[in-house]
Amino acid sequence: MKIVVLAGGRSPERNVSLSSGAKITNALREKGHAAVLIDLFLGDDLSDVKNVADVFQRDAMTTNYAISDEILTDEAIDALRTDGTKGLFGKNVLEICAAADIVFLGLHGEDGENGKVQAAFDLFGIRYTGSGSLASGVTMDKKISKELLLHNHIKTAGYVSVKKGEPTPQIDFGFPVVVKPSNGGSSIGMKIANDQAELEAALPDAYRFDDEVVIEEFIKGREFSMGVVNGVAMPAIEIIVNDGWYDFEHKFQENQTTFQTPPDIPDDVHTEMQAIALKTMTVLGLTNYGRIDFFWNEDGIYVIEGNSLPGMTPLSLLPQEAAAAGISYLDLCEQIVKGKLA
Ligand code: DAL
Ligand code: MG
Repeated sequence: MKIVVLAGGRSPERNVSLSSGAKITNALREKGHAAVLIDLFLGDDLSDVKNVADVFQRDAMTTNYAISDEILTDEAIDALRTDGTKGLFGKNVLEICAAADIVFLGLHGEDGENGKVQAAFDLFGIRYTGSGSLASGVTMDKKISKELLLHNHIKTAGYVSVKKGEPTPQIDFGFPVVVKPSNGGSSIGMKIANDQAELEAALPDAYRFDDEVVIEEFIKGREFSMGVVNGVAMPAIEIIVNDGWYDFEHKFQENQTTFQTPPDIPDDVHTEMQAIALKTMTVLGLTNYGRIDFFWNEDGIYVIEGNSLPGMTPLSLLPQEAAAAGISYLDLCEQIVKGKLA
């Protein structure tokens, strides 16, 4: 099959996405597909392409992108977000995607995860992996997805939301709180605030990434995540952070976090978590694959959020869970593609 792996883009999670994209591309090539990695935003690199079909004959890609902190600097983010000289799709990108049998979305954050790319692809009749446009938009928006969870009796952390320019709301669930951009991922722009002063200090950082911010009740408990692939819930993975919390550094630097899958929890709790993961996928409208994040304590299982394009980097959660279920990384990528084409 001819497969475009679309990654990068101008999201704050650009580097994470390039890491996912490189690994997915290599896996699909090992499976015998003509897979090519294309940067959503920097498609100008393809300006030498005369014949779109030639793209799929390009050399195997061997690069593994390292995830650096570079994306977190103000300058790097501002440069990516304010360069108005390039459209959402770099030159030729749409044309090359249209020539593929399917586009594997390795994008994380903003344009790729919020449903806009999916909507454009729908208009052009281009097939892609993952969920549709509306479910992606809903899932990317922490405020809207929490409202849907609550409406469907799925336990989630209490929250208030606030928009840029509005006064800081009263917190009636007590401190500490978790401050997050409403649309975002990989914990970028996220802070834990222990009191009102820390909350006031955390807000400007979160507003760098979204005009709306969610202030969430801090759930004390054990942290888990669970992927769902083609309607099948994977074994949960427990995230055990040695020191601090599961922030950007713990997510993407080695030896910062211990992962345990399957986790050491009672069978009935694991079964309940799988049922909640499947229900959350349905409530959010997620199809093909996704990942649900949880906390568990004596009060029960809390859904923190869904992820419509979960990370596929070497340290990401879904590939580890799949391995625990006997599904290799190569087979995971293949199953995602096949699930979408079925
Ligand atoms: N946003 C990151 C990539 C994840 O959910 O895995
Ligand atoms: Mg997320």
